[in-house]
Amino acid sequence: MQERLDSDDFDPVDDAKRSSMIYLDNAATTLWKPACVQEAVIKAMSSAGNPGRGIYQAAEDAEKILLQARERVSRYFHAEGAERTAFTQNATEALNTALWGTLREGDHVITTAAEHNAVLRPLYALRRDRHVDISILPVNARGILQMEELHSLFRPKTRAVVMTHASNVTGNVTDIKTASSIAHEHGALMITDTAQTAGEIPVDMQEMGIDILCFTGHKGLLGPQGTGGIIVRKGVQIDPLLRGGTGMQSFDEDMPECLPERLEAGTRNVPGIAGLSASIEWLQAQDLHARHHREMALAKNFLLRIADIPGIRLYGEYDGPDERRIPIISLNIGDVPSGEIAELLWESGGIAVRAGAHCAPLMHIAQGTKEQGVVRFSFCCHNTEEEVESAALLLRSIAQSLI
Ligand code: ALA
Repeated sequence: MQERLDSDDFDPVDDAKRSSMIYLDNAATTLWKPACVQEAVIKAMSSAGNPGRGIYQAAEDAEKILLQARERVSRYFHAEGAERTAFTQNATEALNTALWGTLREGDHVITTAAEHNAVLRPLYALRRDRHVDISILPVNARGILQMEELHSLFRPKTRAVVMTHASNVTGNVTDIKTASSIAHEHGALMITDTAQTAGEIPVDMQEMGIDILCFTGHKGLLGPQGTGGIIVRKGVQIDPLLRGGTGMQSFDEDMPECLPERLEAGTRNVPGIAGLSASIEWLQAQDLHARHHREMALAKNFLLRIADIPGIRLYGEYDGPDERRIPIISLNIGDVPSGEIAELLWESGGIAVRAGAHCAPLMHIAQGTKEQGVVRFSFCCHNTEEEVESAALLLRSIAQSLI
């Protein structure tokens, strides 16, 4: 739907539209980062050697960055120990590791219609290559998971339930605690995709009963792109996705048994992880509930301003407490293709949103938006009421001109 930019089109300095942009695509990547993130990246780029592979200062500095980052991530998600976290380049790599690392020939897995292709595509490949059977927990026409049907999907060979903590299309939060207790009753693992919730709402992997948690650094956690990780509970057997150097046990043919080395083949993105470590420390010093309520207030204010636009269709469910939602509002105007609305918002008002399918095909099929897609507005605490008002006014005037 979106054309790729030509590299010649990109001028990071002299671009008036970029500087006056109203950025409402925070569910894709948050643009605003605390200053300490950039500082940490730059410092690591000029001082960090190769972690775990040298006895000199620069290598030790890199190792310390990773160790501190693991400790911060572990505390943030209430993991059982820093060594249980392995760094990946994003949630997609973490999810691929979780799925390829635990599902065996002929297993059965349960997932949901709310999932991103980061879950669905690896599962389809596992169905092809390892004959893994997949059951899909459905959503209703508003995109809400039908959790009461979960019990009925289990089979004797169900190895895992893999579920997103919040839909990147509707912004509705999933009740992972209930799902994990059902999964555990049936002896299955709970694998959770927190791409949309980490940094937004509390994620306590022990309290929520998550066996394998996958996260990304560049969204709510306010870290750099190219960072993320997988956290594995004690006792869960997992095979690596990639094999290669770890700086230890070099004469063994297989990867080490111990974590995190088992899941970390090759040199890590130390500057990126230094940035992620700084952003998590920064987040820990904030009032996360206040931050989420502020973001939800922006989203709800936007909703109030647009709800009566003629021809508007909203997706997701808006009742209930802020804790049950993340700050996403998805909509359509009549039958106008979502990409056309996004383009008009950008061209006439510098408003950046994401349209189309958001890599979540089953959600769009359930909502009846396979062809049209939806226009997604996603907010962060650095958006302002004025930006919300401008976006709502422009959306109204675009709708009036089209319908
Ligand atoms: N998965 C990201 C999104 O929802 C990129 O936009």
